[in-house]
Amino acid sequence: MISSLILAAGITLSAECPRGFELVGGSRCELRTVYQFYDSLQNRGVGGTQTSLPAHVDGYSPQQIDLGRYLFFDPILSANQVQSCASCHQPDKGFSDGHGRSVGFDGELLPRSAPTLWNSAFLDRFFWDGRAKTLEEQAKGPLYAAAEMNNTPEALLQRLNANDNYRRLFSEAFPGSKEIVESNVLTVLAAFQASLISLNSRYDRYAHGDHSALNEEEIAGMNVFRSFVARCSECHTPPLFTNNQIAVIGTPEPEGMELDIGAEKTFGTSVLKGGFKVPTLRNIEFTGPYMHSGVFPTLREATEFYNKGRGHAVPNGVEMQIHWHIWEPDLKEEELDLIVSFMKTLSDETFKPETPKQVPSGLAVLADVQESSPALDAKSKSEMQAKHSKSDQSIPKTAMRR
Ligand code: HEC
Ligand code: HEC
Repeated sequence: MISSLILAAGITLSAECPRGFELVGGSRCELRTVYQFYDSLQNRGVGGTQTSLPAHVDGYSPQQIDLGRYLFFDPILSANQVQSCASCHQPDKGFSDGHGRSVGFDGELLPRSAPTLWNSAFLDRFFWDGRAKTLEEQAKGPLYAAAEMNNTPEALLQRLNANDNYRRLFSEAFPGSKEIVESNVLTVLAAFQASLISLNSRYDRYAHGDHSALNEEEIAGMNVFRSFVARCSECHTPPLFTNNQIAVIGTPEPEGMELDIGAEKTFGTSVLKGGFKVPTLRNIEFTGPYMHSGVFPTLREATEFYNKGRGHAVPNGVEMQIHWHIWEPDLKEEELDLIVSFMKTLSDETFKPETPKQVPSGLAVLADVQESSPALDAKSKSEMQAKHSKSDQSIPKTAMRR
């Protein structure tokens, strides 16, 4: 610990913007993507390829983004000094964690799965039930939830202010500020997350005019995906593959779990019972198991769900106002396969940030300890799922410290 603190004393913040960003006015990192050349949100109709992006947050300084990266990986944020944001949002698992439901502070499974953080700069609602409006507001959730990092604002700020490395780095990122305050902690975490941009997949190359970027099967898959039969792109709308809305689609819960009413709670209306944020499908290949509580181990199963009939999984006696684009498309087996092939063309991790070897607290970086294993194959994932559901929703405490 002493020696790692000494090493951590050598940490400096990058003066350069992350890839994909341009330094403007000496201190603002602004996003640059080809999509910014397309002027309309819907110039080719829903599902069209050359549509522009919705508003996004950027303009943080390189130092703020880099400090956010250190904090994101630093277990100093949690009460037990074990869990970091990266415990549940692992870069090598599409910024999710490979679990159907995330593993909380005390080893208990949380009710929901960890969403990807790729392209969160473009979202205007956070959490599956849309209960936070900004990344800053969102971060207070995991930081202070007893089941997650279990911290308090007072304890967190005291610990950060007691750390010389953090005091030095925060004064670099916020010139003129003497003390570490909560708003600056939230700002740098948001700055880092808003830098996670994934818009350079093979699909994007195709969208920008390189027709050789997708093979025939994938193009056929794209056409099924955006057809009025399958209707996927009505909600998973390009280029983000989400329309940033809440939709009630009637997904089931894993066995033994109570119905999650989702956005009904956030917005106080039963019309949204079982409503969840339409998730992006970017890097979807890496983030299984799928849906808000990870009920489907594979992409194939998640796709089959839509083919089984409107409301087929809604529990008896529950009234749910299923979205009108959810119906019975009656897709053939081959078409389901094609859609899955297409979704895999949305993978792009070229701007994946580097996991710090050392963090300013000198604590062990979890991602290191966990040995960033290659994404689990579908089979071992479903076995893991099965184990989880059998074990009375809890797994040994040691497992979370892997
Ligand atoms: C114990 C696991 C865990 C930890 C630790 C954790 N998260 Fe999460 N995160 C989740 C889960 C689960 C959700 C979904 C919860 C929900 O929707 O109710 C989530 C949701 C999010 C979202 C919303 C994404 C979206 O698309 O709606 C963001 C952003 C996020 N987390 C960032 C963070 C940050 C920043 C930290 C560290 C301060 C962090 N998380 C720590 C498990 C975790
Ligand atoms: C009416 C809007 C809507 C339509 C149409 C729609 N989806 Fe979804 N999709 C959602 C919502 C909402 C969720 C999250 C539901 C949940 O977690 O319970 C979701 C989740 C998913 C997921 C899991 C994502 C994750 O991160 O876990 C996949 C994969 C997916 N949809 C693929 C498709 C495909 C393929 C189609 C077309 C056959 C389609 N969707 C059509 C709204 C829609």
